[in-house]
Amino acid sequence: MIGLFDRLSRPLLRALDPEDAHALAIKALRYVPVSRVPSDAPALAVRAFGLKFPNPIGLAAGFDKNAQVPDALLRLGFGFVEVGTITPRPQTGNPRPRLFRLEADQGVINRLGFNNDGAAVAHARLARRRSNAGIVGVNIGANRDSVDRAADYARLIETFTGVASYFTVNVSSPNTPGLRDLQQAKALDDLLGRVLEARERGSARAGRTPVLLKIAPDLTLADLDDVVGVARKRRVDGMVVGNTTVSRPGSLREREKGREQGGLSGRPLFKLATRMLAETFVRAESAFPLIGVGGIDSGPTAIAKIKAGATLLQLYTGLVFRGVSAVSEIKADLTAALNRGHRDSLASMVGSDAAAITAESWPG
Ligand SMILES: Cc1cc2nc3c(=O)[nH]c(=O)nc-3n(C[C@H](O)[C@H](O)[C@H](O)COP(=O)(O)O)c2cc1C
Repeated sequence: MIGLFDRLSRPLLRALDPEDAHALAIKALRYVPVSRVPSDAPALAVRAFGLKFPNPIGLAAGFDKNAQVPDALLRLGFGFVEVGTITPRPQTGNPRPRLFRLEADQGVINRLGFNNDGAAVAHARLARRRSNAGIVGVNIGANRDSVDRAADYARLIETFTGVASYFTVNVSSPNTPGLRDLQQAKALDDLLGRVLEARERGSARAGRTPVLLKIAPDLTLADLDDVVGVARKRRVDGMVVGNTTVSRPGSLREREKGREQGGLSGRPLFKLATRMLAETFVRAESAFPLIGVGGIDSGPTAIAKIKAGATLLQLYTGLVFRGVSAVSEIKADLTAALNRGHRDSLASMVGSDAAAITAESWPG
């Protein structure tokens, strides 16, 4: 059924302007009933941040920015869904066109700029699904014109406590000027201090919600030393590695579109994001688990991420080019890898290649 939906819808969606195609996909998920895929093999279950994920494949932030369709996405077979980025106040983002498909590279460049309906609207939607099963994380960010960005994050934590399974503090979008400066040690330490205080205030009423930090793949290794050091000192529950890149690999085939400003995702991001994941894994020393994101579109790319250090995975661009059947294909490949290795969970594979990857030459 999903395969059929994919085969019929993808050529249509690909013929449209990318942003119109995205709006149509959200609409279809809202109004076309989606039947639930069969439940996952027990060996695919993952425990992390005190949560039990039925499988490790999550939908990355940015697809369901306004928390419109998390339950439909869970029914399609994702192990978890991250909605957002949500900012306190609604904002329109950058002028269109601001989303570009690089077909020959199976990549996307976006400079959306946190277009979203704002916290009140997203909160009302999540409150309506509060009693539904399934892990739905909330990715939070600051308004573009905010004068106190840390206050925006703290306020969002207070607002969404009780309806979020976990939070992702997004300080890594390249499309809000200055946002990524929050990754600098002093600013990050202050930000996490305020965010975690807000989390503690909410924990009496709703329990302790895990807080993850999402970073850019463009940090220098010296910056990464600081970021992981601060994250460990502040005891965040995990990190998401990572966001889109402002770099452009020399191998890009779509040269003209490649010059568009914004963050690059998908296949051309895979090597850099996987290297940064391994670099983060060796620095984190198992203090917390990592979510590996960037260029996953198949079983082999998913397995490579796990071996580089990911306990959980997320994808977005792979969905654009491969459709939702990529999720069931990846799950089947993970199950086959477990059976081949006579393993009863993915945990023993996590990070097995990390040290070797950090010794390779830097991906160009
Ligand atoms: C169109 C688009 C919009 C995105 N919006 C967000 C966002 O709002 N917040 C965020 O943290 N990441 C956002 N991302 C980044 C993704 O969550 C992910 O980190 C990145 O695309 C790498 O994964 P992928 O190669 O599987 O797409 C966006 C990505 C794309 C392609």
